[in-house]
Parts: sequence; C-alpha cells; structure tokens
Amino acid sequence: MHKKLYIPGPVQIAPDVYAAMCAPMIGHRMPEYAQVHRRVTTGLKQLLHTSDPVFLSTSSAFGIMEGAVRNLVQKRCACFSHGAFSAKWHDVTLRCGLAADHFAADWGQPVTPQMVDQALATGKYDAMTLVHNETSTGVMSPLLEIAAVMKRYPEVSFIVDTVSSMTAVPLDLAALGTDVCLAGVQKAFGLPPGLAVCAVSRRALDKAKSTPNRGYYFDFEEFEQNDRKDNTPSTPAISLIFALDHQLQKMFSEGLEQRYARHQAMAAATRAWVMRHGFPLFAPEGCRSVTLTCARNDGRTDLERLQKLAGERGYAIDNGYGQIKNQTFRIAHMADFTVADMEELFTVLDQLLPQVR
Ligand SMILES: Cc1ncc(COP(=O)(O)O)c(C=O)c1O
Repeated sequence: MHKKLYIPGPVQIAPDVYAAMCAPMIGHRMPEYAQVHRRVTTGLKQLLHTSDPVFLSTSSAFGIMEGAVRNLVQKRCACFSHGAFSAKWHDVTLRCGLAADHFAADWGQPVTPQMVDQALATGKYDAMTLVHNETSTGVMSPLLEIAAVMKRYPEVSFIVDTVSSMTAVPLDLAALGTDVCLAGVQKAFGLPPGLAVCAVSRRALDKAKSTPNRGYYFDFEEFEQNDRKDNTPSTPAISLIFALDHQLQKMFSEGLEQRYARHQAMAAATRAWVMRHGFPLFAPEGCRSVTLTCARNDGRTDLERLQKLAGERGYAIDNGYGQIKNQTFRIAHMADFTVADMEELFTVLDQLLPQVR
C-alpha cells in the first residue's frame, strides 16, 4: 500500500508530475534539451528574482552544498546552525579539507543576525553557510535580517540553503544579495528526489575561478560554461528536468502569491490542529516554518505507535529527527498539498490519538 507522504521530504508527488517525467527521452547535447534547459532556468530566475545564472545539479542537495563550500571557501568558513542539516554542513565543510568554525543556536531557536555579525566581525572568514528553514526542527531563521548584516561583509560569500523553503516563501535574491542560494527539488518543488538547483552570483563565480581543489562535478566554472550553451557539464536527470519544467509552469499559473498564501494557510491549519490537541509547538512564534510543523510530545502520547497506526491507514508522518526523535513529531505541508489534504490527515489522526494516549 502506498502511504500518502506527510513527511518533510520526499513529498507526495502529483500524478501530472509523474506523467511529465514520462516524456520520451532526448539527448542532453541535442537542441531539444537546450530549449527545456533555457525554459527551466529562465523560470527559476523569475521565481527567485535574480538575473544570476541558476544551475541544475544532478545530485541531492548535499551535493551542491558540498560544491558551494568547495568553490567558495578560500580562507575559513563560518557555519551557522540551528539543527541537524545546518550542523552537518559544518562537518561536510571539514570533510572537504576546508577550515571552518561552527556557531550553533540551540535546537528550536533560530540563527540570529547578532550571531552572524559577531562571528564575521572577527575578520576570520571569507564564507558563511546558513540554512534558512531547518527541516529537523521546523525553525526558520530570519533571512532578511541576516541578509542586512551580510551587506556589511561583502568579502564573505553568503551561502544559503533554502532546501525546504524555496517555492513556498518569496525569495528575492537580488534584494537579499546571496552568493549561493540552493535547494533540492524533493521538498516544496513537489518533485521526486535527484536534482538540486543553485543560483550563484557573479561575484561568487569570479571568486570560484581562483579557488583551488574545486573538483569537477560541482565546479561552478564548468556549470557556468555549459549553462551559457543551455547545458550541463555532465548528463543531467533529464526526466526530472521535464518534471521541473512542468512544475514551474504550474506554479506560475497558480500564481506565486497564491502559492505562498496556500502554504501559509496549510501551516496555520496544522499549527491550530497541533495546539488543539495539546502539543506545544517546537519553534517560537515569529520563526515557525511554513512548510512543516514540528511539535513536542505532550508527554503522554506514544508517537512511534501513532506513526505506525497512521502508516497502516496509508498516511506517513514523521516522529522527529536526530536528537529530538520521539520527543517531537513533524507534519509537512508543502508542494502540491492543499488545506483539504491537511484536513484529511487530521481526521485520521483524530481517530488514532485516543488509541495512543
Ligand atoms: C534543510 C535541509 N538541508 C539539506 C538537506 C539535505 O538534502 P539531501 O538529502 O537532498 O541531500 C535536507 C534534507 O532533508 C534539508 O532538509
């Protein structure tokens, strides 16, 4: 039995997306591919308010997260974290043989502009990494305010993971001034996993040229040279790019403002359901994710059993990630879901909760 996915990625895929992936294969060096590539990257630039190139990386998000630090850390990287994925980025940076320091907010709290300012004021860093929406905790860091701080440090590459927020919230990269803004498509884009997208500033592309040991697969210079010809350095996940083309057209016909409002409405409905049942929200007000809700156990619910029973009814929910597993649970509300999909889940959970308390 297929379980409908309310986990924070991979997400439930709409049937029309699978249909788009079934288009007959083309070669990536054929003019037909260049047309799709151009349409997709133009759509992504429109979505992200940028005229910088947007690369299509056939990898999960961590591939291009690793690539970003390999291209842009020449001196030392400040890795800011507020959960599992952002903390892992520090580890990944070290494993690439690069110098990096970890600045960690407590789980459940955001990275603050003050933390960023304090670290960068030391003058030790030429790059920083930030995760906008920490999927492990459901906490969104204040990207606008952090971007305002980053304007004072133009020599520090501003590398941002919007893996679980891109397409669900407005991202105006021209205004934010990010050097790298990346996402995997298996979250709010509503696509199967295997592709990441990455907008890179002119400043970052120029810097990358003088960074040693960039490797080949994620080398920004390779990406840029190929992108100029509407192409990729190596064979891309063409079926996923067909599906991304389809999803972007769907997003623009829904209307971006409507899409953002739909995500806000699903988040509000989920928070209300969670609180109505006595589960405290993990994130403080003002920095709650719009794509997933992370709630604390109320101390009397067997979350593992709830997850199991929901699974038997055909619904996949999550019972916490990393160090907060089973102390919290997460319900995702992103991509092609609507408030009606959330209500469908709540009806099932309403029936199951008395059995697990
Ligand atoms: C915020 C965030 N960053 C990075 C990742 C890693 O993405 P991937 O598994 O596609 O490499 C995830 C995965 O859930 C994530 O939520």
